[in-house]
Amino acid sequence: MTKREATERISKLRDEINRHRYLYHVKDTQEISDAALDSLKHELDLLEQQFPELITPDSPTQRVGGEALDEFKKVVHRTPMLSLNDVFEPSEVEQWETRIRKLLPADASVEYFGEVKMDGLAIALLYRDGVLYRAATRGDGRIGEDVTQNVRTIESVPLRLEDQSGDAKLKQWVTKARSGEIEVRGEVYMPKKVFEAINKEQEKKSLPPFANPRNASAGSVRQLDPRITASRKLSFMAYDLVTDLGQTTHQETHAILTALGFNAGTHNERLVSRADIESYHERIGKIRASLPYWTDGIVITVNSIGQFRGLGVVGKAPRGAIAYKYPAEQATTIVEDIQVQIGRTGALTPVAHLKPVQVAGTTVSRATLHNIDEIRRLDVRIGDTVIVEKAGEIIPDIVQVLVKLRTGKEKKFHMPAKCPVCGSPTARKDGEVAYYCTNPQCYAVQHEGLRHFVSKTGFDIDGLGEKIVEQLFKADLVKSPADLFTLTIKDLEPLERFAEKSAANLVSAIQKAKRVSLARFIYALGIRHVGEETANDLARHFGDIQKLEHTSIEELHAIRDIGGVVAQSISAYFGDKKNIDLVNALIKNGVEIHRPEKIQATPLTGKKIVVTGTLAGMSRDEAKAQVRKAGGDWVSSVSTQTDFVVVGENPGSKADKAKKLGVNIISEKEFLELLG
Ligand code: IVH
Repeated sequence: MTKREATERISKLRDEINRHRYLYHVKDTQEISDAALDSLKHELDLLEQQFPELITPDSPTQRVGGEALDEFKKVVHRTPMLSLNDVFEPSEVEQWETRIRKLLPADASVEYFGEVKMDGLAIALLYRDGVLYRAATRGDGRIGEDVTQNVRTIESVPLRLEDQSGDAKLKQWVTKARSGEIEVRGEVYMPKKVFEAINKEQEKKSLPPFANPRNASAGSVRQLDPRITASRKLSFMAYDLVTDLGQTTHQETHAILTALGFNAGTHNERLVSRADIESYHERIGKIRASLPYWTDGIVITVNSIGQFRGLGVVGKAPRGAIAYKYPAEQATTIVEDIQVQIGRTGALTPVAHLKPVQVAGTTVSRATLHNIDEIRRLDVRIGDTVIVEKAGEIIPDIVQVLVKLRTGKEKKFHMPAKCPVCGSPTARKDGEVAYYCTNPQCYAVQHEGLRHFVSKTGFDIDGLGEKIVEQLFKADLVKSPADLFTLTIKDLEPLERFAEKSAANLVSAIQKAKRVSLARFIYALGIRHVGEETANDLARHFGDIQKLEHTSIEELHAIRDIGGVVAQSISAYFGDKKNIDLVNALIKNGVEIHRPEKIQATPLTGKKIVVTGTLAGMSRDEAKAQVRKAGGDWVSSVSTQTDFVVVGENPGSKADKAKKLGVNIISEKEFLELLG
């Protein structure tokens, strides 16, 4: 197809796909099946891969979320979803306590319950006879949006309430909760790790990153397509049970929630005095950077439900609870310079050098600007006053430029035409946002490549940190990763920081790392777009590095989960003699690649499998392990790509979806037969 023909076809495909998307999402009607629509999207995708210069940000292939939020059904909350008043200082906690004590009988003793405040999106879950039937966002507190389908994809939300009660009292409440209707409230949030991974993914796709985990979780729940929500790996923490089951304290509420199968927080504490509150605030403050989720404070609630109710509500917040926040995570500062850093792939990343400023207890002097498009979007100039934000230990970001503070002397930034490290020309590849150093021998590229090679996910060489990598380079001892394996104690000893023992340790660590799995070997090569998952897929498919070296782009295309850009990149990598030489040199120097365990081909090999409902004979984790062992892919949501949907007891909506899409539905018995 010529470029001219492609342009025309792409434009027609886009219009048609957009029309169907609108019919489907906004009008809730459908003229063609999902499968047919997927097929159109696939054709568009392939054409855009072939002519990346024709990709536009508004192409359906670039879509990250739906815009028509009012397509969600509105729901009216039975009781309003409140928010909390914030306090920041011990003196404000004291004032709060004085106020509530005044409102309670003079002789009342007051105790509190402390929990970590998650930073996500408040959700109300309704269960009828123990089964989840509605999930809604807070909205304006009175009316929210029905996001049931999306919330169902969150594994930490039980679809059916459990009975994990230990003692008799708890058992009574739990039994009551599982018949009739109850309402659970809590926070949907995105774990830090997921947030970081998703932002990396966003960057890879040249899409703007999410500013913080809160935005990311809100954006993920308010997706019209639950498959996207599912792919975002959200979590849920329950903090309240609105229904009165006879419990008298907030602490009991939490015990019930845990018994019903919710994560109701892991750092909850009963607190009996203001000193307790302070010490709890301090302790969580110390560990919060290492918590797996992002938090900006703690929540203190009057523990007695009777007292809490009696204290009532002012405006939109209950009097009986407060959010005790940690200091703001934003600060303003000045961009003193913008310089570029060069990564392993040769990509140039602009970094803002800032006038050092304290943000959340740490000094920030740099912030990544990601790429030139991000700089343009923010319109950051050298000399600008900007707002920087730091989320937990996540690297700081510039979130806004205060343009009103400009003097006119600010300087616009331009990507350098020459690599600041080696002086070679830089260039932007078609269809990509990043600029690259065009010299593959560039010191920075080599250096970063070696760091990647020895990293935890690669050869995992103990004791070969950043500083040593740099030393080895500077001393000219290592020019390519293959040189590592011939290093001797004598080579290392003369270097600064090395004594006989440390030199011997490093040499032995390197020797130990020689035996490596094929997947790690592939990952360590640092082929662009080949991360851990893809390296695994390739290892599984080829089983042998030579086979991968000699593969064709067609064969790569045929592997599931490997898209056009990735296939191109792999093929270009092995098309370069230098890289083949590297692989050979590694093997010559003693690297032993062990093949992946041969998976006996089963009827499930290479198949995508979804399990819905409870299986009688095995837990979910066991089923997952069995599927993987059989060479299948365990996936969490049903799409036209799914091969089998295994239906257990009390299946969820996935079974209906499978029916609608015409996916093969099988019973547990049939599943066991296929597993062999
Ligand atoms: S208790 C009356 N506990 O923070 C509201 N809220 O700023 C009762 N939040 O709307 C809320 N973690 O969405 C409570 N452990 C926790 C929380 C929590 C996060 C959210 C919640 C609330 C907002 C108030």
